[in-house]
Amino acid sequence: MNDLLLKALKGEQVSRPPVWMMRQAGRYLPQYMRIREKYSFFERCQTPELACEITLQPVDIIGVDAAILFSDILVVPQAMGLEVQLIESKGPLLPDPVKTEKDLARIRVPDVDEELGYVFGAIRLIKKELNDRVPLIGFAGAPWTLLCYMVQGKGSKTFDEARAFCYTKPELAHTILQMLTDTTIAYLRAQAKAGADVVQVFDSWGGLLSPADFEKFSLKYIRQIVDALKDEVPVIVFAKGAWFALGEIAATGAAGAGIDWCITPAKARELAGKKICLQGNFDPAKLFLPPREITTEVHKMIREFGTTSYIANLGHGILPTVPVDHAKAFVDAVKSFSDEGV
Ligand code: CP3
Repeated sequence: MNDLLLKALKGEQVSRPPVWMMRQAGRYLPQYMRIREKYSFFERCQTPELACEITLQPVDIIGVDAAILFSDILVVPQAMGLEVQLIESKGPLLPDPVKTEKDLARIRVPDVDEELGYVFGAIRLIKKELNDRVPLIGFAGAPWTLLCYMVQGKGSKTFDEARAFCYTKPELAHTILQMLTDTTIAYLRAQAKAGADVVQVFDSWGGLLSPADFEKFSLKYIRQIVDALKDEVPVIVFAKGAWFALGEIAATGAAGAGIDWCITPAKARELAGKKICLQGNFDPAKLFLPPREITTEVHKMIREFGTTSYIANLGHGILPTVPVDHAKAFVDAVKSFSDEGV
């Protein structure tokens, strides 16, 4: 087994850092687009054979050191009772968002085996098909990021309505965040039981909150999730934009912390301390550079992070218009690092 990812998360010595890319299964791959023409987004998520095929595509085509389950963070609000649609070229839409106390009647902490059993079925199939070639990463959205969509009802750059909801109805917000937390713990635990080797918590909108509000509305719940799971499966916390909380994230006992490109590797290490594995932080837009320049930039990034307790990745998801050979150049650059003699 290629266990570079698991070794890096344990802080063990590796010949070179492992590499994978957030959102590595997706629209930049023609093989994904062919499946996308035939099946709706949730059909792709809910059919284990399709989820498995899509999950394996970047392993086979790009040669990443880890697979990440093909699914979406929004399957959790869906399982809790909310309608979630994915609108072509627009993104997620929740037509009946949560706004008031009475909307609580429409959501519940579900039995994850009943509502999300298809995910665990997909994981079991993926593990079989992977046959230990690389580890499998499971994932969930952080409660705060899920609340953003549940309240705002759609994507946003600022999620003002979700922030205002937390400040004006804190009790209601905390009730929902706790329901999301309880669901997520059961969900990630079942993913690990089904075979996920690592789980990542995506707090894509963590950076929209002040440090004090991030503690109150996000970290408090992430801490519960990590605490419940860390003895069963290594957890990576990716809170985009929330670099100010790296010390607190490290203190949760998470095995890894994801970072975006708005912080230097040195500063991230200083804030996070020595123990935690750092993951990131290549600007996804730099994948539009010519492949030779991608290689130079990637090698520079690895030199700055060092090769131990480090997972090479992008600082956020890969963009759909990135040429496949540029994605491959990114991965190959990491793989060639040990040959550099640096
Ligand atoms: O990383 C992977 O390849 C695994 C699959 C994965 C998807 N979504 C598939 C997907 C993962 C890990 C996610 C996480 C996710 N989903 C996040 C957190 C990570 C991040 O990027 O910040 C968020 C915020 C979402 C919500 C979501 N789902 C949005 C905003 C969108 C629309 C924007 C977009 O990228 O198209 C989705 C749809 C989605 N999820 C697609 C994929 C491959 C595109 C669907 C399609 O059009 O084919």
